[in-house]
Amino acid sequence: MRKNLVAGNWKMNLTYPEGLALVGEIVNAASSAATGANAPEIVICPPFPLLHGVGQALPQGGKFHLGAQNCHQKESGAFTGEVSPKMLASVGCEYVILGHSERRQYLREDDDLLGQKLKAALAAGLKPIFCVGEPLDTRESDETFNFIGKQLADGLFHLSNEEFDQVTIAYEPIWAIGTGRTATSAQAQEVHAFIRERIARAYDGKVALDTTILYGGSANAQNARELFSQPDVDGGLIGGAALKAADFATIIQSF
Ligand code: 13P
Repeated sequence: MRKNLVAGNWKMNLTYPEGLALVGEIVNAASSAATGANAPEIVICPPFPLLHGVGQALPQGGKFHLGAQNCHQKESGAFTGEVSPKMLASVGCEYVILGHSERRQYLREDDDLLGQKLKAALAAGLKPIFCVGEPLDTRESDETFNFIGKQLADGLFHLSNEEFDQVTIAYEPIWAIGTGRTATSAQAQEVHAFIRERIARAYDGKVALDTTILYGGSANAQNARELFSQPDVDGGLIGGAALKAADFATIIQSF
């Protein structure tokens, strides 16, 4: 189901006490904002050791939800250091970010592995937030649509209709992540519309209209309203600005 949604990706930041302090501030700052017809669903994605504590600090049954930043592709077993989707669900996670460019780049996660992770997450009842996005040289050589089209076809469109229905897509141009160089609202809209068109082709028009597509990459309290006003932009996947309660609350109110 398509909806307004703002997710905070805390990445590898904050100790346990720091995370608890921040989530308390976010809940205080955002609770009044998180009502009304346009109010987004809010997903907080802390690092693994903070998940349970942060989840406990979120008001239950409302707009706030808990998400993880990654999961393993198997349910359990001899995979030292890994965390399974089932474990995430057992501490209250509803969402999991998959395919983030930082994991594609630094951890060499490819479409085949991401396909396995998607299936495993869905089997455990988690809702994937699946990231796509092009590097700068791809944009500069006018290959953005080809690149994103391939990421969608190879990474995502192997899912059944029922599986795809659980997926949120995040368009995160790599050149905009953590750089302060946000995509213009027109650039974001253009790619979001392209993604929706490709979904319509792979599934059908109704599935495309029902898909939530987020923008990520230097989105902040100043530019969120302009980005979210675009017809195919349903919210944001927020990095740096999600670590500041007041900024994150402003972003939540930017619909
Ligand atoms: P920034 O908002 O810090 O650019 O990060 C975006 C991002 O990667 C969210 O997943």
